Amino acid sequence: AAAEKGGYATFMEKEIFDQPHAVGDTLLGRTKDDGELVLDELRISEEQLKNVDRITVVACGTAAYAGMVAKYAIEHWTRIPVEVSLAHEFRYSDPIVNERSLVVSISQSGETMDTLMAVKHARELGALTLSICNTHGSTIPRESDAVLYTHAGPEIAVASTKAFLAQITACYLLGLYLAQLRGGTYADDAKAVMQELHEVPGKIEALLGTMDRVKEIARFMADTRSVLFLGRNVGFPIAMEGALKLKELAYIHAEGFAAGELKHGPIALIDAGQPVFIVVPGPDTPHELHKKVVSNIQEIRARGARTIVIAQEGDEDVVPFADEVIRVPRTSPLLQPLLTVVPLQVFALHLSTAKGLDVDQPRNLAKSVTVE
Ligand code: AGP
Repeated sequence: AAAEKGGYATFMEKEIFDQPHAVGDTLLGRTKDDGELVLDELRISEEQLKNVDRITVVACGTAAYAGMVAKYAIEHWTRIPVEVSLAHEFRYSDPIVNERSLVVSISQSGETMDTLMAVKHARELGALTLSICNTHGSTIPRESDAVLYTHAGPEIAVASTKAFLAQITACYLLGLYLAQLRGGTYADDAKAVMQELHEVPGKIEALLGTMDRVKEIARFMADTRSVLFLGRNVGFPIAMEGALKLKELAYIHAEGFAAGELKHGPIALIDAGQPVFIVVPGPDTPHELHKKVVSNIQEIRARGARTIVIAQEGDEDVVPFADEVIRVPRTSPLLQPLLTVVPLQVFALHLSTAKGLDVDQPRNLAKSVTVE
């Protein structure tokens, strides 16, 4: 087993360090030299895809957070409405899907019963079903009209890490492909994003080389009982994912919020010493979201919170209000999740280790949930 872990103490750690490859391999072979995306393997005709007027993502847990990232990105790039539904809620909610709907399931294992049942239900309703999946030959891709495989390689640790990054990458590919089909400026914009996406694996690699401080912070926080996570736009699902990792791995109460929601209730939770992670949008994010989140940090710090800020390199605005600043490389706003989630994964891993817990096999959890 030690050899399988490639010199790392746990599968999870190995899988975190595999992430540049998980993203790179998922991109591999899917663009021509001129940058045009080719997703022939999809097995859906251009005509069928052009007919789609609505997308519903069905998934559970971490995969559903990848779906939330996809919603922001695909809507922005294509103007096709995207809805994200937890698979177990979808099926019993009398969902509005029909022949013009594309139902995208996201699953690492391809065996999650809730997701499988959602896909079957969507097919019964006449929708076109596409599976984004990491496991060849598993049930969900077999039960779907089409499949886009993520190439993260086998994920052994119960807590999902590299599969998540590969899922987000596959969602980007789908969105950019749909934008390309729309043509005109949509296609031009897609090409530019695609170029930037190809630079992300190298940036993840560089980021992974700077995690010593995150490890230290985790070690100091072994006795912490509650941690909050804030994010906005694509940073919102990343905040939720950071909280889920901590619940799963360190058995700590953790909650993720949309930063704008703070003043509508959660700010009452802030008292002296409350640790809060804030995923800050890059300064070039539209609608001044960067400024708005910086002022959130200021507000909670004034109420005694201990602020641990995830910010882009060169973002100096956060410094006066941050107890800790964790830097991530620059990339365009919608691609930031592939970088900002990494320190949160590393934090959860090391907090779990500091508490002496089983990182790869947390209590009460199974790698794939094959019961409803
Ligand atoms: C993530 O860390 C979890 N263990 C869990 O939320 C998981 O993502 C979810 O059960 C979905 O699994 P799947 O991707 O295999 O369908």
